[in-house]
Amino acid sequence: MRILSLNANIEVHENVKVLPEADKKLLEAAKNAMKDAYAPYSKFKVGAALRLKSGQIVIGSNQENAAFPVTLCAERVAIFAAAAQYPSEAIEAIAITAKSGSRIVNKPVTPCGSCRQVIYESEYRFGQVIRVILHGETGEVYVLNSIKDILPLTFDADFL
Ligand code: THU
Repeated sequence: MRILSLNANIEVHENVKVLPEADKKLLEAAKNAMKDAYAPYSKFKVGAALRLKSGQIVIGSNQENAAFPVTLCAERVAIFAAAAQYPSEAIEAIAITAKSGSRIVNKPVTPCGSCRQVIYESEYRFGQVIRVILHGETGEVYVLNSIKDILPLTFDADFL
């Protein structure tokens, strides 16, 4: 028997102000996108913004449904929209943020497992890592150089 230890390197920035300009701009786009989330059931609004290789920004927000499981997260709305409109363009970075109807989100919001898997598929598809910028309403910002940092032992097409 042996122990397999997994190590993630996450940059922790004190606040949004200290981020590089390109990250700030993408987070700003995510915060704007969040305003148009359709979240009447959870009241938890999420915004995502992608920067493509061309510099184009594509946004997404969570879209809920009275049939709850049909809901789609902000990250997947943005990634699938980009894949449909710009199928040959790699994603360079994604910024994700959220606002709750009941409390201040004072720590970085981290994507759900399904969205991590979808973000990873895009890394795999284009053979390029995606920078991930995570923020709440206030406080620290997490920056990852690849979604694999929070999706270790990833399942991908190499298994098929
Ligand atoms: N949600 C996202 O949009 N992204 C995530 O990564 C986690 C959760 C949405 C789905 C649902 O509309 C609400 O947040 C509460 O789960």
